[in-house]
Amino acid sequence: MTHGTFTDLAPLLPWPRAFTSVPGAEPERSRSTLARLANDVWATVRLLAASALDVPGFEAKLAIGEALHALTEVAASVEERTAELGRRTAPADRAPGTGTRSRLAAALSSPAGARLAAMPDDWLRPLLGTFGSAAFDPLLDGPSERVRRRALLDMGDAFTWFFEAEGRLAEAAGEAPPAPGASGSPASQASCSPAPRASGSLSRPTMGVRDARFRTFEHTRDYRKAADWRCSASEYEDDLIELLRVNRDEIDALETFALALFDLVEEAPLEALRHLARLAWDEARHAAIGHTLLAERGVDPYGYECSMIGIRVRGAMSGWDAWTQITLFGELGIIGPMRALVREAQKRGDDRVAAAFGFVCRDETMHLHDSRRLLAEHHPLGDLSAAGERARAHAGRTLQELGLFEAEQFEKLDGRQIFELLGE
Ligand SMILES: [Fe+2]
Ligand SMILES: [Fe+2]
Repeated sequence: MTHGTFTDLAPLLPWPRAFTSVPGAEPERSRSTLARLANDVWATVRLLAASALDVPGFEAKLAIGEALHALTEVAASVEERTAELGRRTAPADRAPGTGTRSRLAAALSSPAGARLAAMPDDWLRPLLGTFGSAAFDPLLDGPSERVRRRALLDMGDAFTWFFEAEGRLAEAAGEAPPAPGASGSPASQASCSPAPRASGSLSRPTMGVRDARFRTFEHTRDYRKAADWRCSASEYEDDLIELLRVNRDEIDALETFALALFDLVEEAPLEALRHLARLAWDEARHAAIGHTLLAERGVDPYGYECSMIGIRVRGAMSGWDAWTQITLFGELGIIGPMRALVREAQKRGDDRVAAAFGFVCRDETMHLHDSRRLLAEHHPLGDLSAAGERARAHAGRTLQELGLFEAEQFEKLDGRQIFELLGE
């Protein structure tokens, strides 16, 4: 076998030999193409974020949580490349163009089931198509081309659930809505037609919805005060069930971070949006972990009633207030009990529980640390304690309006008591 010289390898450069493989390639053109791609991604992020609240299906919510993270990372990589090409993206630049805005407004005002069923054809495939047909010169503009290719892979992964579920979703969207009272408590019924909250001309739901497998309650987040709480003979068992339920019900934390993402796309810096999307994904994972571990114990996870008070209160808030409320009064309260459970599980050799809560604790610690820093830096009130007081006052008013708690009494609660009432 003979070996060629290095000169013979010249045609094997990883780029085309022709310098201008993409006609008309120039930085300004790449920049405007990237800006258009980013706007399309942010519009899809908002569609998914609003749907995280009013789409009832548990599995759909979890898939939306994961897709929110994947898409926000794609938008971030596009914005970062745009900055390299000479133009920093301001929050206001993320506003959709007129055509996309009216398409998005129409989608947001359509029923959640029909919207979810139409999503693959109306939004996800077109987004893949736009990225697929964008042309960046692989040599001159290699970094943009790399962003585009990685985005296609990441979005393809994130959309798999939606494409696989497409037929079932279309079938479900065509079904008549359940008769009043058919799916449990007033909470899930009332939330079927939530009053929208406007951000720009775009509205999102102000309440989360659960599917018919869930029975719900909304007077507290303290599971030991729930109607279906039963003490066992084991303190460890009780703590475990409580914390598995807490995590399963973090569907409302996913909804909270999704609504904050929806509201803040045109207001917050990229770093904050990436963090919110990561939180949405993490809370989707925590809900799945709680659900799975309950099922592994031989019980039907849907047999445990689901608390709705957290999203009832935070859904009515602005993105800044909802994010502040859950950070200052929710995330902090959840970490201590979970750490104690990890230690006890390790002592007992319950490796699966120790591993699961070990990872969840790491997530929550990061959430608390990064959210506090980001809120301190970017909250419009400019100060974490002022932001916390505004969120507390808003929560008190909402609880009073709902007839769930006296605002005056709420004023007197300390952080731990607010956590017990509203959860993470
Ligand atoms: Fe969580
Ligand atoms: Fe969290």
